[in-house]
Amino acid sequence: MIKISPSLLSADFSNLSSEIERIKDHADYIHFDVMDGHFVPNLTIGPMIIQSVRGKTGLPFDVHLMIANPDPYLKTYADSGADILTVHAETCPTLYRTLSSIRSLGKKAGLALNPATPLAFAENVLEVLDLLLIMTVDPGFGAQSFIKSSLPKIQKAKELIKKADHLIELEVDGGIHPETAPLVKEAGATVLVAGSAVFSSHDDPKTAIQKLRG
Ligand code: DX5
Ligand code: ZN
Repeated sequence: MIKISPSLLSADFSNLSSEIERIKDHADYIHFDVMDGHFVPNLTIGPMIIQSVRGKTGLPFDVHLMIANPDPYLKTYADSGADILTVHAETCPTLYRTLSSIRSLGKKAGLALNPATPLAFAENVLEVLDLLLIMTVDPGFGAQSFIKSSLPKIQKAKELIKKADHLIELEVDGGIHPETAPLVKEAGATVLVAGSAVFSSHDDPKTAIQKLRG
């Protein structure tokens, strides 16, 4: 079954505990968008915030690091309570080492690719990869429009990860709502990140998540 990873980026930051309470029985992961004001033009969540809500749910914390030079911070984010740590190919010159380091910290290793970044970045790191995140918007903000040319890339990513001898989740992030969710599922996605479709919808989060599952 498809997994849903609601992004807290669109939640009420003044009340994160109760926002998590609203989704925790309906979601599969919780997605944290960590932005540094360098790699992306926005500043958001740091490790202290993640740690502060770690006790609110046992759901896996899916931490999306949109930060330049992530290597020195991997341990800090691992210790904050992340279960999956996803780095961007565009920020990692020694990607195999970075993904291996995440695994050495006992966490699942994720690789994110921006819309213009070729899938080839994933080809030589499959053996140290647990999750491949195909960005369907350029990262930095919630509620942007889904980039349709991502669909063939998701299909190719599905074919690529089949070559691994272990399970690699195929996650998509950006502009996922009830109209685009069926398209990415059909293309092969196994995890859908959704911010505004869960927290800024007219529906309550439970119904919104059900609509994404389809
Ligand atoms: C974008 C973030 C996304 C964002 C998605 O940089 O990585 O996780 O929260 O927001 P929506 O679902 O509203 O497009
Ligand atoms: Zn994200």
